[in-house]
Order: sequence, then structure tokens, then C-alpha cells
Amino acid sequence: MPIIPKLLRRVENEKYKKGVEKKFRYFQNRKKKILNSFKRGYKIHASTFGIPTDIYDLKKEFVVAEVDQDGFFLPFIDKKYIEFLPLTSEEYFLKRERFKIFLVISHGYLGIKKNYRGNKYRFLKELESLYKLSEKDVNVPTILDIDFNNLTIIISFIDGEVLREKLAEQGALIRDKQVGKNSDYTYVKRKIVAGRRLKEGRRFLPKVIDKEVFLKLSQQLNEIHKCGIIINDIKYGNIIIENNTKEPYFIDFETATILEKSFGLKYNILANFERKRLIKHFKSML
Ligand SMILES: Nc1ncnc2c1ncn2[C@@H]1O[C@H](COP(=O)(O)OP(=O)(O)O)[C@@H](O)[C@H]1O
Ligand SMILES: [Mg+2]
Repeated sequence: MPIIPKLLRRVENEKYKKGVEKKFRYFQNRKKKILNSFKRGYKIHASTFGIPTDIYDLKKEFVVAEVDQDGFFLPFIDKKYIEFLPLTSEEYFLKRERFKIFLVISHGYLGIKKNYRGNKYRFLKELESLYKLSEKDVNVPTILDIDFNNLTIIISFIDGEVLREKLAEQGALIRDKQVGKNSDYTYVKRKIVAGRRLKEGRRFLPKVIDKEVFLKLSQQLNEIHKCGIIINDIKYGNIIIENNTKEPYFIDFETATILEKSFGLKYNILANFERKRLIKHFKSML
């Protein structure tokens, strides 16, 4: 990453870090309001997928599966109920790098539960980003529930496929299982692996999506930037293509940079840099 955007990002993130406690209290006091604003967002009832309502209690949170590093699901219930998902077994489960992620049913809706393991900074970035974006018409998951004591967020499950997995199914060598996890490598080796992944992704992209999807993605990114949010983690593994509408969704805002203003030099540099990163991933679609 070039030095100027890197420095700018660092300065902004440090600023955000300093305000974390205050911001935490601010959002904590507004939990009801936040959850209310998500009433109209994208969410799907578990029964829509054929998960019988008598196996869970509507009033409690119910764990359906654990998500592995490549986005495969390890079922905690009879797997016949969730055969619409890419499933895995204990034997093949690839442990996640950082936080554990679960597929749950919350208030009857299918959700993804992320645990920030005490990291208020990342927890808030995800929460604030999703909250800001939900007010605009951006394709992001809805927040179904927030636990300010345990630092967990449940976002609505997007019925779709992660772009990385779509590419892998076509033969791209891109899964962590195939190329290794970041933590397996040194910094230099990581860069090399990332470069190879990018090349594989580009090569297989035209088989997997059409140009329209790329155009929608770049529109989505523009909208996100207009909210002052720089995602900082654009990759095939953080994009989901929704099955019914074929709309692309960006996920994973825990490392985003949230700017106070969506204009000015600082903003332009960071937004331009990120736009370039998107294009780098989708060059083969241009
Ligand atoms: N809203 C969602 N709908 C469906 N799957 C999701 C959703 N959010 C996350 N996932 C799945 O969980 C994986 C990890 O989520 P992500 O937010 O990217 O966490 P991490 O920070 O660990 O990368 C994704 O690659 C995807 O397979
Ligand atoms: Mg991710």
C-alpha cells in the first residue's frame, strides 16, 4: 500500500480509537433506536429456508452452525435442515483466524453472529458502519441484535454466495484450505500469496459474474464512500452475491475507516485508493 493513504488511514484510526469509550456509551444508549431502524432492512425468516419452527425457541437465540475460515458451515442441528448451505464436517473444518462466527436464529430470522472478543474498536466500526449505511439505500446486512456486554453483533444472513467461493467452484485456487491462511505465512509470503489469489480471481471472474454485477459493486462502493466509510478490506471473500436479486453485498466493516466528512483532500485520497483496489480485483471485467 502506498505511503500516503497508509499514513492517513493510520491517523484516522488512531483518532477513532481515542473516542471509543465515548462512542460505545453513545451507541449503548441508543440500542433500541438502532434495532428499530433495522426493522425494514434485508432479513429472511428461518422458516423460508425450510428450517422447522419447532426446533427452536423464538424468544431465545438459537445456534444453527459454526462458520469456518472458508465460509463452510459445521451443522449443530440435523444437516438435512440446512442443505442449502455449503456444509463441512469436524474433520474438514478450517478454524477461523480471529473471531469465531456462528449461524444463528434470532427473533426467527437467520443471522450471522460475530464475536469481537472484547475488541470495542472493531465492534464499533462494524456497528457504526452498518448503522450509517442502513440509513442510505446500500446493500448491507441488517443488524438483528447487539450485545454490548459480550461485544457480539448478529447481522442478517444474506442468502447468497461469497464471491470467493463462487470462484473456487469454477476451479480458482483461492480457498484458504488450498493456499493457506495468513497466519501460516510471513509478511513477504503473504504478499506473494495475495498476489496469486488476485490473479486466480481475475482469471475466473468472467465465468462467475457479468459486467452488470461489477457495475453495481462500484455503485455500491460509491454510496459507501459517500457516507464517509472506507471499507479497507475489499476482497472476493467479503462480497456476497445475493441469490434472488443477484445484487452484490459488501460485508465485513470491522476494519473500516469512518471519516467525519465525505469530502476534502483526506477523503479523496482514501476513497480513490479504495476505488483502485476494487478495480484491481475486477480488471478482467472491464
Ligand atoms: N451477512 C452474512 N450473510 C451470509 N454469510 C455471511 C454474512 N456475514 C458473514 N458471512 C460469512 O462469514 C464469513 C466471515 O465473515 P466476515 O464478516 O468477513 O468475518 P471476518 O472478519 O472473520 O472475515 C464470510 O466470508 C461469509 O462466509
Ligand atoms: Mg471477511
